[in-house]
Amino acid sequence: MYPLLLLLLLLLGGRSSESTAPVPYDNVGQNFTVVFPENIASYYPSPPTNMVKITALKDGTTVKLQQYGNPEHQDLDAGDVWNFTANATLELGKQNISSNTLTINSNKDITVQAISLKQDSLQTAVVIPTDKLSTTYLIPPIPTIPGTNNPQDLVVQTVTERGPFRIIIVNGVQEQNKVTVEGLKTQEVSLQSGQVAQIWLEEGAGYKNVTAEKPVAVLFGHPCAILGNCSCGLLYTILPPAPGRTLKYLVPPLLAKDAEGETRVLLAQNGSTSVKPYDSSSLMYDVAGTAILYRPGLLLPLIPTANFACCFVVTAFPTFTNNYAVIVVSSNVTDGVRVGKDRISSADWKKLGGTNYSSIQVTLSLGKTVIWHTSSKMAVYFQGNNGSTLIGNQAPVISSSPDFRGCVVTPEVVDLEEQPNGWRESFKNCADSDLELLCLSSTDLQKQIYGKLNQYSNAIQEVWIGMRRSSLNGQWYWVNGDSVNSTNWGDGKPGGVEEGQCTIMSLGNGTGFQWSDDDCCKDAHYICYKEPELFPI
Ligand SMILES: *[C@@H]1O[C@H](CO)[C@@H](O)[C@H](O)[C@H]1NC(C)=O
Ligand SMILES: *[C@@H]1O[C@H](CO)[C@@H](O)[C@H](O)[C@H]1NC(C)=O
Ligand SMILES: *[C@@H]1O[C@H](CO)[C@@H](O)[C@H](O)[C@H]1NC(C)=O
Ligand SMILES: *[C@@H]1O[C@H](CO)[C@@H](O)[C@H](O)[C@H]1NC(C)=O
Ligand SMILES: *[C@@H]1O[C@H](CO)[C@@H](O)[C@H](O)[C@H]1NC(C)=O
Ligand SMILES: *[C@@H]1O[C@H](CO)[C@@H](O)[C@H](O)[C@H]1NC(C)=O
Ligand SMILES: *[C@@H]1O[C@H](CO)[C@@H](O)[C@H](O)[C@H]1NC(C)=O
Ligand SMILES: *[C@@H]1O[C@H](CO)[C@@H](O)[C@H](O)[C@H]1NC(C)=O
Ligand SMILES: *[C@@H]1O[C@H](CO)[C@@H](O)[C@H](O)[C@H]1NC(C)=O
Ligand SMILES: *[C@@H]1O[C@H](CO)[C@@H](O)[C@H](O)[C@H]1NC(C)=O
Ligand SMILES: *[C@@H]1O[C@H](CO)[C@@H](O)[C@H](O)[C@H]1NC(C)=O
Ligand SMILES: *[C@@H]1O[C@H](CO)[C@@H](O)[C@H](O)[C@H]1NC(C)=O
Repeated sequence: MYPLLLLLLLLLGGRSSESTAPVPYDNVGQNFTVVFPENIASYYPSPPTNMVKITALKDGTTVKLQQYGNPEHQDLDAGDVWNFTANATLELGKQNISSNTLTINSNKDITVQAISLKQDSLQTAVVIPTDKLSTTYLIPPIPTIPGTNNPQDLVVQTVTERGPFRIIIVNGVQEQNKVTVEGLKTQEVSLQSGQVAQIWLEEGAGYKNVTAEKPVAVLFGHPCAILGNCSCGLLYTILPPAPGRTLKYLVPPLLAKDAEGETRVLLAQNGSTSVKPYDSSSLMYDVAGTAILYRPGLLLPLIPTANFACCFVVTAFPTFTNNYAVIVVSSNVTDGVRVGKDRISSADWKKLGGTNYSSIQVTLSLGKTVIWHTSSKMAVYFQGNNGSTLIGNQAPVISSSPDFRGCVVTPEVVDLEEQPNGWRESFKNCADSDLELLCLSSTDLQKQIYGKLNQYSNAIQEVWIGMRRSSLNGQWYWVNGDSVNSTNWGDGKPGGVEEGQCTIMSLGNGTGFQWSDDDCCKDAHYICYKEPELFPI
């Protein structure tokens, strides 16, 4: 009957779908499988502190965690963090196949960070939930690191610290899964439920990619790639799934700071890999695959512009001397970035030469910091150091829906209704669906909603909104009780009492969403609305 409107409803997200659907970000999910890679750290055995940091996005979250079949659980509210230290024996060794995993299941959305710590050897990673895992991964080129793979060093697979880099493949499903590692040689592994395989990336094998029948997670690294005073540090990263299309990657110079000469960009595309030395005159790469920044002590997957998001939460390491975030955003919207509740001084932004992006470094105070944008998407990385120990990763994403009010865990509902109705029926229909007829009481909300309606304004002319005239005193009021501070009346509107008691908003081309008073009995489309649910800042 209203084909255009049906399309609109699909585009805007129907009421039932938008209010309940989980928000699709790479690291937000409910089910996770975590492994802790072998961490040598020193030439005598010492126990690790391998941890997961679980952050709840919503109130009433129950997280269940299991290692060696032993369950533990904890109830969390939005913003709560559960630091859980895993059994030290869970750390992987040199086995080809192992069942040493930690599984995490939650009834609501959470994020999980894994921390591998032994003496000064520390690495962190943002874990990908099982429902976001992939069946295809590209193996990055192996960085040249003294002691691990220089031609003059003896590479001996049975002596781990002189062994080659390895990949760790984690079965992402509760059933058998066949995995193929391909390159010059091909290796096949069959994983049972809960199993993990380690494959050494021997030079002659030239392994390029991992494909599996069903989803898997893939880690890439070396247990002893950071050589120190009779110690050696673990180096690893969780690989991003192969994107299957060309993406743009930016290299913010702040991530290479103090190590420009040693920083590399590891590019993995289908069929070709390359290692680019960091070059401050070339900060953007188009890659039909993945890009990982390497600097001594750190493997950091770069965030492609297509995966930019709106809200991130970063946690400083209390024992570290420096903890900071690096933010990358379009130069024209730097003023929308917030760290907690605060704006960032505009003088501190640095342009990324040859691009339209800028970046900044923000020092983090202890505890949790929410970094969000009021209207656009951006990238946020976390870095920290303690003497020569360096850590860093992509900051965990909480939200990809921008909102001027904060960090969204459930987006606002903006429902354009298909069936025209009078104002009174419109008001009631919204209320019956646990929504309210749209009230546009602040200029920030007007701007955000107009932005969402703009692209659809060719299809219909006018919609009812939630403002009407009091029959007692003739004053205009918002039906949700907000004060009438900021209005958008058209020329000569509102007219006298006789012209109409209800407010209609034009959506038609180029009319600037102006409001008019109109006859409440007239049939018009209408917009039902629900506020977003926000993460505590
Ligand atoms: C998480 O796992 C549970 C049980 O294994 C399943 O019912 C649920 O759908 C999963 N959730 C997601 C988001 O994959
Ligand atoms: C860790 O796991 C091992 C092997 O299952 C077990 O013997 C040991 O008691 C566990 N330690 C703790 C502290 O739970
Ligand atoms: C396990 O890995 C070793 C090398 O570390 C290899 O020689 C051996 O064949 C592998 N075993 C299996 C069953 O794949
Ligand atoms: C950081 O350095 C201090 C002082 O050297 C040390 O006590 C602490 O254990 C280090 N913390 C970590 C996590 O490495
Ligand atoms: C994996 O690598 C092999 C060998 O280079 C190549 O033939 C194959 O197309 C690649 N597969 C994917 C999915 O990239
Ligand atoms: C090794 O130890 C010496 C003396 O304690 C110290 O000066 C040096 O910085 C250390 N080197 C590294 C790489 O930690
Ligand atoms: C990778 O490239 C090979 C040939 O170059 C092609 O056959 C294959 O489909 C590609 N795989 C993907 C996933 O693009
Ligand atoms: C900012 O610039 C980008 C191009 O770099 C453009 O796509 C976007 O519309 C601009 N945003 C604003 C608010 O001007
Ligand atoms: C930067 O933005 C301008 C104007 O939007 C555009 O013409 C130019 O191509 C952009 N430059 C890059 C490197 O994207
Ligand atoms: C978890 O660890 C962080 C530091 O990494 C700390 O700030 C926080 O208080 C810890 N939370 C709990 C509940 O112990
Ligand atoms: C209207 O203005 C008052 C006073 O400035 C303010 O307290 C109130 O929050 C505003 N209301 C809305 C809906 O913006
Ligand atoms: C808006 O403009 C487009 C073309 O510019 C036209 O096709 C459409 O009918 C117009 N819609 C309204 C509601 O005036």
